[in-house]
Amino acid sequence: MATSAAGPVLIVGSGLIGRSWAMLFASGGFRVKLFDIEQQQITNALENIRKDMKLLEQSSSLKGSLSAEQQLFLITGCSNIQEAVEGAIHIQECVPEDLELKKKVFAQLDGIIGDDVVLSSSTSCLLPSQLFAGLVHVKQCIVAHPVNPPYYVPLVELVPHPETAPVTVDRTHALMQKIGQSPVRVLKEVDGFVLNRLQYAVISEAWRLVQEGIVSPSDLDLVMSHGLGLRYAFIGPLETMHLNAEGMLSYCDRYGESMKHVLKTFGPIPEFSGATVEKVHQAMCVKVPDDPEHLAARRQWRDQCLMRLAKLKSQMPSQ
Ligand code: NAI
Repeated sequence: MATSAAGPVLIVGSGLIGRSWAMLFASGGFRVKLFDIEQQQITNALENIRKDMKLLEQSSSLKGSLSAEQQLFLITGCSNIQEAVEGAIHIQECVPEDLELKKKVFAQLDGIIGDDVVLSSSTSCLLPSQLFAGLVHVKQCIVAHPVNPPYYVPLVELVPHPETAPVTVDRTHALMQKIGQSPVRVLKEVDGFVLNRLQYAVISEAWRLVQEGIVSPSDLDLVMSHGLGLRYAFIGPLETMHLNAEGMLSYCDRYGESMKHVLKTFGPIPEFSGATVEKVHQAMCVKVPDDPEHLAARRQWRDQCLMRLAKLKSQMPSQ
């Protein structure tokens, strides 16, 4: 098994996101080395991955064509970074979101890697120009930002440094597709990348609508979960425009002026504090009390919904 498998892929940091990447790469048949500075984290990660994969297999939701045992066989822990990088085709950094720590980790890797491996960061919001500045192997560096939980939400944003080689982007794109993820190319770095810029635009307007007393917090969430969100699981906002008239030109012709009229009424960036945060917090706690048990149960329910949605999407004929 191990000899015919591709890879190896090295995961640096075996916390929440590192574990998910390990499972995804193993599902694609890649050998995976899990590295961490904390030996206990590696032990915990391997135990958690075993438990998760068995549960996924029992519910027929395990990704890939290999059994859980075959996938588990592909993942090994490693506490020596020099040994860990040996032969790696792709390194996925997953250490905490701290610029100085990540720069230290990349400087260390830069000193021991060869010219063929891709060096990729899972960062949610640090810019490639900050992370990879001054590295000898900068051409091989890229951000591959996953969405939590990556096992059920396949989007990965690929963000290059200005000096990243096009072949690095292409290789990472192909690798992500091979493990069943949906990579998108962010052509130039920008704060928040694309996903968080869209998310923050939605959060901002949601907050203003609640703050101005136009809608209750729970009804606001319904507008998304029972309205916009349903079609956005299948088509994006631009295709929505295209389909909601006789094509994009017709949509802009018909609705352009009214969109601009509404957009001009949008307010300033909210403070996310004071009376509104109290109001939103109280409303959220009616539905999901903010103690660890209730939050964990609701997250589990969310992940089950996402898992079923992923199944439905994979069964839909593609057009
Ligand atoms: P985490 O805190 O769960 O795990 C971080 C791991 O890195 C720990 O096991 C820690 O022991 C290890 N670590 C610390 N210093 C290290 C070093 N020098 N060398 C090797 N390992 C080291 O963090 P999490 O949530 O997995 O986040 C990792 C990255 O993924 C962050 O950049 C985060 O922004 C990004 N991300 C997180 C998402 C989330 O929802 N948690 C979603 C998308 C991206």
